[in-house]
Formats: sequence, C-alpha cells, structure tokens
Amino acid sequence: MRKWLYICADGKANIKRIGVFTSGGDAPGMNACIRAVVRTALFHGVEAIGIMRGYQGMIEGDFVPMDRGTVSNIIQTGGTILKTSRCKEFYYKSGRQKAIQKLREAGIDGLIAVGGDGTFKGAHKLCIESGIPVIGVPATIDNDLYGTDYTIGFDTAINTALDAIDRIRDTAIAHGRIFWVEVMGRVSGFIAVDVGVAGGAEAILIPEVKTDVDELSRQLLKWHSMGKTSCIMVVAEGDEAGGAFQLAQFIKDRTKLDSRVTVLGHIQRGGKPTARDRVLASKLGAAAVEALLAGESDKMVGEINGQIVLTPLKETYSKKKRLDRSLIALAQILAT
Ligand code: F6P
Repeated sequence: MRKWLYICADGKANIKRIGVFTSGGDAPGMNACIRAVVRTALFHGVEAIGIMRGYQGMIEGDFVPMDRGTVSNIIQTGGTILKTSRCKEFYYKSGRQKAIQKLREAGIDGLIAVGGDGTFKGAHKLCIESGIPVIGVPATIDNDLYGTDYTIGFDTAINTALDAIDRIRDTAIAHGRIFWVEVMGRVSGFIAVDVGVAGGAEAILIPEVKTDVDELSRQLLKWHSMGKTSCIMVVAEGDEAGGAFQLAQFIKDRTKLDSRVTVLGHIQRGGKPTARDRVLASKLGAAAVEALLAGESDKMVGEINGQIVLTPLKETYSKKKRLDRSLIALAQILAT
C-alpha cells in the first residue's frame, strides 16, 4: 500500500464502507470532489456509497454503490451527481435518528459530508449522536467557512460573476449609467469583494460593513460632475442597507442619476468548474478519505497556505473567517 498522500498517519481506523453526500447549495467542483472521494476510497480498498439528496436521502435510505465508472467524466461538470437538498427534518433529533438507523442498516462506517456551514452543523450533530466518524469537505460558492483559504466553487462563481460584470460595463459605458449588480452572499461578502476588485467596481457593498447611503450619493454626484458617468456598484445580496433594487431606488431618489439593476442570482452557482476548483476539490476529496482512514472525525479538511489542515467541524461555522476589508477601500481608490 502506498503512503498516505496528505494525512500523515498509518491507517488507524477500521473503516470498510464510506458514505459520501453533498448538501445545501450546489457548488461547481462538487463532482470533482465526489470523484476524488470514490477513487481514493477504492485505491485504499474501501467501498464507497453515494447518499442521494444530502440529509433527505440519508433519512430515506436512498443509497447507491459507487465504482470507478459511476464517477467517470464528471470532473468537468457543475452541479452534483448525488443531488442535494436543504433538509428541515434533519434539524430535529427524530430526523437524525432515522438517518442513523439507515446508515447502520447499510453498514456505512464512515461519512464524508461535502457542503457549507449548514451541512457541517448537521454533520457535527450526526457524528456526536451516532458515533460514526464524519469528515467535512468545504464546498460553497460563498467561501465563508473558517479553516480553509478557499471553498470549492468560490473560484468558479467569482469568474462567472466577473464575466457578467465585464459585459454589463459595456452597456454602462455606452449609456453613461450606474449599474447595481447584486451577487450572492446572504451573510458574507467574499464574492462581492473579489468580484468588485477584479471588475474595477466603483463601490462594494457587503453585509459585514455598514453602508453609508448619504456618503455614497454624494460620491456618485461628485463623480458625475467630474464626467464619470458610468459606475459599477457591486452589492452582496445580504448587504444590511438592502438588496440592489432597494439601494438603487434609495440613491436614485436622492441623486436623480440614471441607473439599472442586475441580479446575477443562481447563474453563479452553475457551470463548469475552473481549474483551481477542480484541483482543490481533488485534493480535499482525497484528503477527506485519508483523514477518515487515519482515525480522524468531526473535522473539516481545508487548505491554508497550500497545506492541508484539519479543523473541528464546530469551529468552521462558529468562528468567523477574516475578510480583507481593505480591498473595499482599494477598489474605490483605484476606480477614482
Ligand atoms: O450558500 C450558497 C448560496 O448560493 C448563497 O450565496 C445564497 O444566499 C443561497 O445559497 C441561496 O440558496 P437557495 O438556492 O436555496 O435559494
């Protein structure tokens, strides 16, 4: 048997059948991760079982055996071949008990949970209540998990949004208009910040930073008087001052400047994963299997400064990942 690729340990856990599932919002690169999990498990002589539709499928015992062929030709695809769900029943102990029963009946003795904070909250409880070891893999376009520099899907999402903004800018320039572009991120502004800087946005509005609408109105009027008539304002959907429509109306009432709103929405979640997302998904999927086989549990595999690290699941959603707020000021300086 070859040495572990990522996790330094000789197999301590006697795991024979790993269940893998995707849960919460889909993210590009989830399929590359499933492929890595299945093929790494097979490489180590361990069976892999796909759990369909996240926790919903777990409660219903919707399990499918996975072999090399079931994960062929999926590395380049968006979405998730295992499908996903946001399962309310799993919030309750009664729901989790049903799932635990189904896992035991199927002989699943290790789990890999691919998703975001909601997925990991459920995974942590499941792990405690069942005693079945669980390892999480961070996959959400929001990039809002503590314990990894990047989550699977973020890179693809920001590039998709950036492509849209580049197109919108053509129209903004042609008409001399302000465009409010709303990107995803209910509670975090990671997408908005990177897309805003990369897209040369005049302003970036995120939930983590209070928006001063009076100051923004003054700034827009100042730019207008200087001859700068087209502006791109990137707004995270969860910005505390409201979504893009609300902000646009608010500022139009004060400045009377011509503006339009584009909500990018779920276009950011789909599509072919970028090379970076495929590589990250491959590394983390493999590392998750190896962590399980090394006897780890109730942890997430992540990558920090190029190194694979393990973080307790609870910390991934209870601790706050640092967002570089200085980039918001930088975007404004560079756009002026
Ligand atoms: O968590 C990923 C995400 O795309 C968020 O950015 C967004 O707020 C949310 O999911 C939307 O969820 P749904 O597709 O269930 O409406």
